[in-house]
Amino acid sequence: METLEFPKNFFWGASTSAHQVEGQNKNNDWWRAEQLGLVPHQSGQAANHYELFAKDFALAKQLDHNAHRFSIEWSRLEPEPGAFDQAATIHYRKMLIALREMGIEPIVTLHHFTNPQWFANLGGWQKPEAVKFFLRYVAYCLEHFGDYVNWWLTFNEPENFATMAYGQGVWPPFKKNWWAVLRVCLNLAKAHRRAYKKIHAKQPKAKVGMAHAMIAYAPANSDNFLNLALTRIVKFFRNDLFIKLLWKHFDFIGLNYYFYARPSTISPANALRSDLGWAIAPQGLTQVLRELHRFRKPIIITENGLADRQDTLRKNFIINHLLAIYAAIAEGINVRGYLHWSLLDSFEWQEGFSGRFGLIEVDLASQARTIRPSAWILSEIIKANGVPTAMLSILNQNKKQPWPEAVKRAFQKINRVNPLKS
Ligand code: BGC
Repeated sequence: METLEFPKNFFWGASTSAHQVEGQNKNNDWWRAEQLGLVPHQSGQAANHYELFAKDFALAKQLDHNAHRFSIEWSRLEPEPGAFDQAATIHYRKMLIALREMGIEPIVTLHHFTNPQWFANLGGWQKPEAVKFFLRYVAYCLEHFGDYVNWWLTFNEPENFATMAYGQGVWPPFKKNWWAVLRVCLNLAKAHRRAYKKIHAKQPKAKVGMAHAMIAYAPANSDNFLNLALTRIVKFFRNDLFIKLLWKHFDFIGLNYYFYARPSTISPANALRSDLGWAIAPQGLTQVLRELHRFRKPIIITENGLADRQDTLRKNFIINHLLAIYAAIAEGINVRGYLHWSLLDSFEWQEGFSGRFGLIEVDLASQARTIRPSAWILSEIIKANGVPTAMLSILNQNKKQPWPEAVKRAFQKINRVNPLKS
């Protein structure tokens, strides 16, 4: 059986973030906003992953994952300024040990959108002291978890966090001030640079990066000058700014990819859409990988997935996005891993639990787990370390989703028989 093979030692797995799955995260700014009704939904018990992590990791193992991304909840570890919690420390060590014992490589995010309430009270990321506070937490993590972690992500989608929390004002602290967004971005960038140096001082061999969201932009009309200019500006701020500011301080780049988006979009009107209405556009993944390639850093896909409660689109989604990655690899782009979002159904911030992204379905009432069929497709791919061409017949069943053009071109370029020809 022919396989479209991925590089050796490729990371295969899934991602989560603490507040979205752990449940009962009572010391952070999101929890407070949830209790005060400032956001539409409450995280509550979420997937109770704080208690059920060993069971969940066993399922990931069963699905052949060899890597797993999760975040440490700063507010659990440091519920009061400078006072670190012993039980939480033991807990995260247990998680890391469990992963190591299963042969699953942990990829640890230090900050995924939430902040300790005390930190928010002191002015959060707008204040210059934020950097100092964050570094104290990073130092503690290095001290207590460093022996188990080789791969660190400082921040998850800093530009998204800054925009939603300080510009659009829909996440805590609900500010609508674009100067604040700029200040926050600069503080986050500074915190990343310092954390990078701190981690390397203690762990010279560690790999440090950031999970960076990219959207595939293209002008709606490429003959229109204004349209082209707008696309460039939006792309610069959303996709490039953080990488340009920080590229010297990355050992690798984590890429979170979901969609094409407006304003200057080529999201086709008839595109398939997830339960949250996001247009599915695998070809955009090849495009953003090409854009990232300019920075000459290894890339790990740290998030890619869709809300699909009934699991009707996820199989195709996974295969098509992996083909888009394969196309990029065939062009010489250095992609080292694919972590699906998410391992579990989780608290989707403003969307609450309406968007079901899990490879594993979670029944919120009973906390029962059910592996979705698409998770087994990914598992087969992992076992083969690539996409078996036989699997492409699954795609043929769904003619509504066209083959990504970039993938077709990649096959032509590497001179293979094009298995995508239908
Ligand atoms: C975030 C995740 C979120 C996902 C899907 C990403 O931007 O990092 O926390 O669950 O999008 O909405």
